[in-house]
Amino acid sequence: MDGISFDGRVVIVTGAGNGLGRSHALEFARRGARVVVNDLGGNINGGDEGTASVAQAVVDEISAFGGQAVANGDSVAEGERIVECALDMFGQVDVLVNNAGIIRNALFHQMTLADWEIALKVHLDGAFRTTHAAWPHMRTRQYGRVIMTSSMSGLYGMPTQANYCAAKLGVHGLTQSLAIEGRERNIMVNTIAPVSASRLTEAFWTPEMMQTIVPGMVTPLVVMLGHEACPATGALYEVGGGLINRMRWERSRGARWDVGKDFTAEDVLSAWSSIEDFSESDHPDSAASSAAILVAHIERRKGVPLD
Ligand code: NAI
Repeated sequence: MDGISFDGRVVIVTGAGNGLGRSHALEFARRGARVVVNDLGGNINGGDEGTASVAQAVVDEISAFGGQAVANGDSVAEGERIVECALDMFGQVDVLVNNAGIIRNALFHQMTLADWEIALKVHLDGAFRTTHAAWPHMRTRQYGRVIMTSSMSGLYGMPTQANYCAAKLGVHGLTQSLAIEGRERNIMVNTIAPVSASRLTEAFWTPEMMQTIVPGMVTPLVVMLGHEACPATGALYEVGGGLINRMRWERSRGARWDVGKDFTAEDVLSAWSSIEDFSESDHPDSAASSAAILVAHIERRKGVPLD
């Protein structure tokens, strides 16, 4: 295929039996990838044993158009087994799409430890376990593309989803560090925060929206980020329904006090409008660029009175 081809590449998509993951797996396979279709076939709450037939059904779809894929029914909570499967079947892993997910909603005062732990286990530990197993292999081959799946809930918060939100923002923390570590080995790691119709969201959207915001509107970005032409690393994108937007940090103008001078809670309150003022904001994109302003402030303000 001309354009974005995955001939010779091996792609793992976790949670690929339904929704977004299925759409990603089909498209990677259509573009020539050999795909590990992982899915334990559970319910949306992560509470049942599941069935391997869910992953196999997607493999059957791929086989039907002449693509190559293998089904894997392991949980991402044992993500190293999924990577082992890819290496056993296809001998390499080029792209990992961490997509598997569940929801276990409860208001925070009613949330049990089990609710908390399963959300962290599937989303954050699952992304860790799978990526950690693929990472040495990618480092050795000096090639890798990893896509993490976050969520608007994770970025902005959502009542009843404290567990999910914590895990979903956590996966972007993983992305940001791995992007820095992976860069010199040509391993690029990015995060998407998708919006799509799926069984996870059918209670949230109207039937009309469910018919409109299909998973196929998220997949093109995932495929592009999974390709060798991927131009980004460490980035976060909101994607869905025909929109793709990059997100980034924004730092307000802020307040400054002389180095070595005490300041009080009352001073902080007085300076609140400056602390909240985004009219002269900047966009630090690394810990170094964030710290640079502090270093400059200390240098500039040593013994010098405030303007
Ligand atoms: P879905 O329920 O259709 O698909 C998720 C798949 O993950 C299911 O097939 C499920 O069996 C599988 N899965 C669950 N736990 C697993 C585990 N431990 N190991 C392996 N597979 C497992 O849901 P959807 O919407 O396609 O979600 C995909 C990802 O996108 C999830 O991470 C979800 O949190 C995220 N997301 C989806 C949004 C949406 O609008 N659909 C919004 C924001 C995030």
